[in-house]
Amino acid sequence: MKCVTIVGARPQFIKAATVSRVLGFNPHITEILVHTGQHYDSNMSEVFFDELEIPRPDYHLGIGSGPHGSQTGKMLEAIEAVLIHEEPNWVLVYGDTNSTLAGALAATKLHISVAHVEAGLRSFNRQMPEEINRVLTDHSSDLLLAPTETAVKNLLHEGIPENKVHLVGDVMYDAALYYGAKADTHSQILFKLGLSPKSYILATIHRAENTDDSLRLQAIFQGLIQVAQEIPVVLPLHPRTRKALERENLLSEISESLLLIDPVGYLDMVMLEKNACLISTDSGGVQKEAFFYRVPCVTLRKETEWVELVEMGWNCLTIPYSREQIKKGIENFLHQFPANNSGICGIYGEGIAAQKIVNLLS
Ligand code: UD1
Ligand code: UDP
Repeated sequence: MKCVTIVGARPQFIKAATVSRVLGFNPHITEILVHTGQHYDSNMSEVFFDELEIPRPDYHLGIGSGPHGSQTGKMLEAIEAVLIHEEPNWVLVYGDTNSTLAGALAATKLHISVAHVEAGLRSFNRQMPEEINRVLTDHSSDLLLAPTETAVKNLLHEGIPENKVHLVGDVMYDAALYYGAKADTHSQILFKLGLSPKSYILATIHRAENTDDSLRLQAIFQGLIQVAQEIPVVLPLHPRTRKALERENLLSEISESLLLIDPVGYLDMVMLEKNACLISTDSGGVQKEAFFYRVPCVTLRKETEWVELVEMGWNCLTIPYSREQIKKGIENFLHQFPANNSGICGIYGEGIAAQKIVNLLS
């Protein structure tokens, strides 16, 4: 049996690493790995293949950046050629990026079965490119691998047949368990940055709604500058955000107040997450990792797909309209902890999502 895996963006390398490892143990499945090239800087791509021991891609499509239609269109064409050549039984796609949608669409048009890891997440905000990608991918998929009960409910509510939907847990939890311990022995990041545990806030920002809106971008970074007057703020800067800050002439002012660093590898990121006293982010993956390491998280968005975290009190949504709101949101949440720990076990599975996925593909 042959399975073509499509990846292209940073979080997909991390998710695919856990499943590829388990696929590698199954002698009946051959995995062909396709990298679309959506992310291409070495600290956004190569570092993950090295650290997480992901096999080198069998195909690197080299698509790179571009407007949504053009980027997705180029991927669609290139993936189609690979699929025609490889004739796989399954195409495995992850998450909600343009690479996900292109992979699902190319496969379904060729009548090749599609398995979607992280199916069923919804923000119910169609302004987000990711929401369009998720909905279209789910409705093109034959096997919907949901990370949470909420995701299952969302899919059934949209009329997707129950027999296609499987609650497997979250592959990012598998990754946190598997690589989390490795970070303790392999990462030197705290030492390199001169940070001691629980003495800083970790922040990441990259969502289009925050980077491409000048007022929001300014509110977020001015808010973080105010917070940094009380407690250091470490921020690994996504290339999209770096470009936006350069465009707005904000980069040099921000560098004076925040500890801005280049994007880091996964083990360094895990180390920074585990040891932060609070995380503030607009990332999907980082919100969950905050919870996996029991660090409170302030999400700089008006909604989240990971609603359980807000319901349990581990995550607090703050709409980034003004610097005051951000400062207040972060400071209040920092002092309001600890959150409610009841019902906390098992909401993202038991760390065996990858194994369940491979069993369903076999
Ligand atoms: C993409 C995903 C988003 C995901 C994120 C993970 C889509 C629509 N968005 O957003 O869901 O959360 O990845 O990080 O698929 N760039 C570089 N070097 C790189 C990659 C990007 O400089 O290696 C810059 C380019 O200027 C590019 C911009 O970042 O135009 C945005 O990259 P893109 O992949 O289009 O979207 P992300 O914001 O990374
Ligand atoms: N991450 C990383 N280095 C960084 C920033 C993030 O390894 O400098 C990891 C993070 O730990 C998480 C994943 O990248 O596992 C999240 O990716 P991102 O925030 O880019 O995308 P999203 O999850 O929002 O789609």
